[in-house]
Amino acid sequence: MSGLRITGGRALSGKIHVQGAKNSVLPIMAASILSGGETVIKNCPDLTDVDAALRILRHLGCRAEYSRGTAYVDSSAMTRCDIPDCLMREMRSSVIFLGAILARCGEAKLSMPGGCELGPRPIDLHLLAMERLGASIEESGGNIILRAPALVGGRIDLTFPSVGATENAMLAASAARGVTLITNAAREPEILDLGGYLRSIGVRVAGDGTSTVTVEGGGSLGSAEHTIIPDRIAAATWVAAVTAAGGELTLEGACQRDLEAVLRVFGQMGVELDWQGNELSVRSPELLRPPRTVTTRPYPGFPTDAQPPLMASALRAQGISVFVETIFENRFRHVPELRRMGAEIKVDGRVAITEGPVRLHGAVTAAPDLRGGAALIVAALSARGESIITGVHHIDRGYENIAEALRSVGAQAERID
Ligand code: UD1
Repeated sequence: MSGLRITGGRALSGKIHVQGAKNSVLPIMAASILSGGETVIKNCPDLTDVDAALRILRHLGCRAEYSRGTAYVDSSAMTRCDIPDCLMREMRSSVIFLGAILARCGEAKLSMPGGCELGPRPIDLHLLAMERLGASIEESGGNIILRAPALVGGRIDLTFPSVGATENAMLAASAARGVTLITNAAREPEILDLGGYLRSIGVRVAGDGTSTVTVEGGGSLGSAEHTIIPDRIAAATWVAAVTAAGGELTLEGACQRDLEAVLRVFGQMGVELDWQGNELSVRSPELLRPPRTVTTRPYPGFPTDAQPPLMASALRAQGISVFVETIFENRFRHVPELRRMGAEIKVDGRVAITEGPVRLHGAVTAAPDLRGGAALIVAALSARGESIITGVHHIDRGYENIAEALRSVGAQAERID
């Protein structure tokens, strides 16, 4: 059994450098095949999801390497347009390669991504976007084959501002002749980062970060170097960690604008937050107030990915906290695990209610998914005694060298086999 052993009750102190954003780097790695040139990606986090994306790129025939925070992709010799089932299963977000492969090859073949730990996660909006740009779609034997010998710009009206569908639409539109208009587009900071990369290789993108994105594609594209934005969810997790454990942490290289919705909530709870440029100092108060009602929403609302770690830290607060999850069906899978540590949480459909303060105790728990795993770490830091969190592979998808990082700020944490 491989896991993470955390002995709780130690206040955190010191500095953490905020890693590059996982949710930015994956679509940008997919985008790196558009130009047929070279891409250097700086501030690339060392994550198993990044490793999976590198393996997909190599399968496609690209040269793809990673060394100490920099990923390097040369897509000039790309030979294939399929992603096999095993690679699709490894990373649910592999669907982000769809638009880029179609744009580069005129054809893309993927196995259908099934449900994942967060619920069914359909890809209808991704497919609608590809169809609007002229792709034909064939589904057979669990595979999906898209063909578009010549993509043509068009209007894509998304019924929900899906992050992945907006990104796939931008990627495919980069190779489409004419102008593509995406309405009700997702506005997440990661969309802006992708827009920035696309502009740097020569695609004309405008409106990224707003609900209406235009892409003028079809031109010749070149090589580029790009630096990934800081990971706002990793930053939010560290804020939750110090809130729960007590102490004071400085987050280096954080982005104030991207963290607004999250920090508003921690501020309401009484957490002291102080910005000096892109350094955020976070101090946990003696008495923590509950965050009242937190409803997850598309950006600029409160991010669904920060809900589990926030919930774990709110268990220390004096009173009732209400969490309403509107993005994913299955986003409370950390709740039964937190209960094993002594938490009192009621769940009714998409609403979870916690009552604190709870003095958590160490327990053996299983990370149910990436952010659920983050919640268990936050809880273990504040719990009395030793906790063992299994299913660390979920956590490794999104957090760089987590045990080492925790130790660097005074936590007692180690990986165990
Ligand atoms: C991305 C993030 C994920 C984050 C999520 C919401 C990456 C790699 N992952 O996931 O961490 O939690 O945004 O901020 O960037 N939906 C459909 N049809 C579709 C696509 C989505 O119904 O074709 C639904 C989903 O089931 C879900 C909701 O839309 O209920 C949000 O999904 P979406 O914004 O697409 O999330 P992802 O891009 O998968």
